[in-house]
Amino acid sequence: MSKMILISNRLPVTIKKDSQGFEYESSVGGLATGLKSYHEHTNSIWVGWPGITNESLSSEETIDIRQVLDKQFKCLPVFMSELEIEEFYYGFCNKTIWPLFHYFTNKTEYDLDLWEAYVKVNKKFFDVVEPLIENGDTIWIHDYQLMLLPQMIKEKHPNTKIGFFLHIPFPSYEIFRLLVWRDEILQGLLGADLIGFHTYEYVRHFLSSVRRLLGFDNNLNHIIYEDRNIHVDAFPMGIDHERFAKEYDTPEFLTEVRQIKQNTRGEKIILSVDRLDYTKGIPEKIRAFDEFLCKYPEYKGKVRFHLIVAPSRIEVDTYENLKSEIDELVSQINGKHATVSWMPIWFYFQSFSQESLIALYKHADVLLATPLRDGMNLVAKEYIAARTDYKGMVVISETAGVASEIGEVVVVNANDCNAIVNGIKTALEMPTEEKIAVNRILNKRLKRYNVEFWADQFINSLSQTTEDSKQSATKSIDRSLSVITDAYKKASKRMIFLDYDGTLVGFESIPQQAKPDIELKRLLFNLVEDPKNTVVIVSGRDRFTLESWLGDLRLYMIAAHGLWRREPDGEWVMTATLDNSWKANVESMMQMYTDRMPGALIEEKDYSLAFHYRQCEPDMVSMKLGEVRAALESLIQSNNLSIQEGNKVIEVKDSRVDKGQSASAFLQNQKFDFILAVGDDYTDEDLFMAMPSNAHTIKIGTANTNASFRLNSWKSMRSLLKELTNTKEN
Ligand code: UDP
Ligand code: G6P
Repeated sequence: MSKMILISNRLPVTIKKDSQGFEYESSVGGLATGLKSYHEHTNSIWVGWPGITNESLSSEETIDIRQVLDKQFKCLPVFMSELEIEEFYYGFCNKTIWPLFHYFTNKTEYDLDLWEAYVKVNKKFFDVVEPLIENGDTIWIHDYQLMLLPQMIKEKHPNTKIGFFLHIPFPSYEIFRLLVWRDEILQGLLGADLIGFHTYEYVRHFLSSVRRLLGFDNNLNHIIYEDRNIHVDAFPMGIDHERFAKEYDTPEFLTEVRQIKQNTRGEKIILSVDRLDYTKGIPEKIRAFDEFLCKYPEYKGKVRFHLIVAPSRIEVDTYENLKSEIDELVSQINGKHATVSWMPIWFYFQSFSQESLIALYKHADVLLATPLRDGMNLVAKEYIAARTDYKGMVVISETAGVASEIGEVVVVNANDCNAIVNGIKTALEMPTEEKIAVNRILNKRLKRYNVEFWADQFINSLSQTTEDSKQSATKSIDRSLSVITDAYKKASKRMIFLDYDGTLVGFESIPQQAKPDIELKRLLFNLVEDPKNTVVIVSGRDRFTLESWLGDLRLYMIAAHGLWRREPDGEWVMTATLDNSWKANVESMMQMYTDRMPGALIEEKDYSLAFHYRQCEPDMVSMKLGEVRAALESLIQSNNLSIQEGNKVIEVKDSRVDKGQSASAFLQNQKFDFILAVGDDYTDEDLFMAMPSNAHTIKIGTANTNASFRLNSWKSMRSLLKELTNTKEN
């Protein structure tokens, strides 16, 4: 039976060692708490780090831990050394990715050693997971610590279904581009079939970075990358609503409730629950509470602020400093406002069990959740679910992912102290009926979009994505293969036109990297050596490059889109006499737009001028391109010229030169019983149009085409060529 493998850096249990032995504690943090109930109810195994370093374990202890994790928790541990924890976990994860993705650029470190540790530990996770992988398994990778893992798995196991979910924000392109290893991270993520984020905003940011940095466009949130269809979407994470809404009557729970009631003595409770983290805006909310007491002294003695901060990543300097800042602020403000019988802030620097949190949630009048930046903030959802009498109110900051789902509560800017002060007052004084009305709506929503719904949606979407890409890949390749290979087999005189870039090799931004590799040379050699075949490479490249790359093969070639033709013996002839007198005018017009559109450049070819805008800022392109097009059209009206638009390029060319016209010359006065034409670009449409109706035409890629078949990429084209060259006659 196929299984589900969940992978995250932290397991849902954290192991602590003390003089008594080992303790298995529930991990704190949204990923572990949220996913835990899904893991318990499904046939899944969870792979991750158990929170303890190798150095503190003997080999027997390691074996014991392995067994307990397997039997009691359905978990498989990835053990890490102190150095790995220092460089990977405290290092690249929490000194580079975490601050950068939360927009704390001044706290972000760029250190090659830390990056190398990140690569190594991702590989370590791969080595642990690999033996588990079987055909048909679903692999669901979580969060920013493992962004290279999808690609590592996909490369070795292309038939697995890989989902990736990011639990933190994906920052805007302007922030993400600061990362030194940004391309590697994007490529790592693109190993997944489905990439999920909490909000549409993060999806937008991710797609924009992929487009701007790697040059892959998207269509309805789908990216075509190396022959695969990758889906990117928003899946706001839910909570186990039932667990938080339940009425508990265990003696422990009732004791906790009694204690809360006794201690509070009728005071209103403002509650705050966070991991120790500078993204959570903890000092800011303490200062706002101080300001609240100064501005509204009538609340002194009538409210208390329960400030729960769960220890986290304390070995990172910024976290340690934050702890000192909070300590200082709390004692300062308590010193300022406390009386003999009343203390305003009750500060707990400890992890609470979720049962204890539920008791607190149920009795808190206001939840103050004002992170400066937060992927989601599950605490806000948990509080709303736990207050089953609907009489609580959340103050949330707009920079928490959850804000877009609970917009009915009090929403504030976490940097605006006054707004938080007013938010606290509004929440405390909101009429009960209003609170009930808001909470009723929110509870209905959170109950429906619970964690199970979230996981099901993600997994269904993953199955759908992998099913879709399997179908579209097999449909197009199978259809081409059977129809084309059958016709090829039967034919005795074949004509084969092949475009080069994007058809036989990947489209490379650095032109020299498109040089033919050994595999391609061998394929072309086999094709050419068959006496039944006439093979023509039809390219826009200049003849010198083509000659140096492919000149050793007995090929025909069409270079510069048809201006030059090469015979198999190596002789090159020019096919038309050109008049280039038009170029000066068109070039000066293009130059004007190159000056106005940073990143644009002009390329001069023998027969054309091309205006490339691949490097331009996309928003500027959408504003300016219409203007460029109109200006060029008006300029060429009276000439023997045409405009051709392609992938991020507008080309003005001598209309007598095109791939179609040059290819037609090969077909005149000769009878072929098999004709094949393949291309990926807009210039290849001329080739397809010039073919007779019995020809087989193949478009590589997804854009509109006049071709009769389609393949996803040059890789599929190579597979087809392999099929053809291996084909023996019956
Ligand atoms: N949590 C906990 N004990 C604590 C503090 C927090 O169990 O003392 C849990 C809390 O219930 C929530 C998670 O930790 O499920 C925090 O998730 P959130 O999304 O709010 O923030 P994150 O820690 O993931 O940044
Ligand atoms: C956030 C991250 C999780 C992480 C958790 C606790 O929720 O998204 O990946 O596990 O914080 O942080 P820690 O560093 O203790 O695992």
